[in-house]
Amino acid sequence: MEKIKVASLFCGCGGMDLGTIGGFSYLGKEYKENPFEIVYAVDNDEYCTKIYNENFVHKCVVKDVRDIKIEEIPQFDMLIGGFPCQSFSISAQNPPRLGYKDERGLLFFEMVKLLKERQPRFFIAENVKGILSANKGKAFPIIIKEFSDAGYTVVHKLLNASEYGVPQKRERVIIIGFRDLEDLLKFHYPMKVGYSERKVLGDVLIEESNYDETLFFSEKAVAGMMAVRAKMNKGRTMSLTEPCNTISAHLAKVSLNSTDPVYMVGDRYRRFSAREAARIQSFPDSFAFDCVSQIRQYKAIGNAVPPVMMWHIANSLTVCLKK
Ligand SMILES: C[S@@+](CC[C@H](N)C(=O)[O-])C[C@H]1O[C@@H](n2cnc3c(N)ncnc32)[C@H](O)[C@@H]1O
Repeated sequence: MEKIKVASLFCGCGGMDLGTIGGFSYLGKEYKENPFEIVYAVDNDEYCTKIYNENFVHKCVVKDVRDIKIEEIPQFDMLIGGFPCQSFSISAQNPPRLGYKDERGLLFFEMVKLLKERQPRFFIAENVKGILSANKGKAFPIIIKEFSDAGYTVVHKLLNASEYGVPQKRERVIIIGFRDLEDLLKFHYPMKVGYSERKVLGDVLIEESNYDETLFFSEKAVAGMMAVRAKMNKGRTMSLTEPCNTISAHLAKVSLNSTDPVYMVGDRYRRFSAREAARIQSFPDSFAFDCVSQIRQYKAIGNAVPPVMMWHIANSLTVCLKK
């Protein structure tokens, strides 16, 4: 089967891209190659792109997506991207329009612009659950309309990574656009995996981390937490027998007072190591992060789309490619 060519915007360290192309193993399971190849990838963060370029044969470009000249992107059949959505403001026009005054909100339009201009067969956009309720629920329908107006039939679904073999309860909205009706008619979102294939935190923690003093919170941090304990969930200690809570991009700075998940060893609390965080996100151990500092590793890992969840999504599109 000829491979579908993919352009990837906001590629980060490549979680979404790895899942799309497949060909990796995680916790003893092979995620076979999908019929997709990345022909163009871009992100403006020099650290996560360094990680990206360490791990893929193809290379990504370090650039602000707003500076891309459309001609520099080779021909592609699918566009993918987890566009940043920190703040969508809605202009009170009639009909209401999306945050034209907000610079970061505008990044979503870079995907729309490319779709309008190039009309690839598919697109996949990923975003946080909060996008569904942003601006009191007003932003999301406008986003969908912008994608539809670019020439696509658009579907969306909230997926929980833990239901696809990832040891994390990460919920993400997956928006998929189809240019051709016949593709849409063949498509179904991926089925949840059976319970025997689901993973929990205990499947990925690394015993040696329990002896790494740099990962433990100080007595002072713990005392501070105890003082406000009534208000919080005991430093968000995670259970080994369940998928972990969602890890974020600031795990390096995780504090006992934040909502970031931590782990309790005996009577002491520790953060996850970067490799454990990568495993919680379903990156294979062969994926190298140590070309950048720990803080940058945690950021890139916490921002990523879990490759295993993305593999299931990309794989579900392959029914459209069969003749
Ligand atoms: C949620 S992360 C994407 C993670 C990626 N999909 C993955 O799975 O690893 C969003 C990315 O958008 C990038 N970004 C933000 N503004 C950008 C811009 N103006 N141009 C290019 N990339 C940008 C950030 O550096 C970040 O890596």
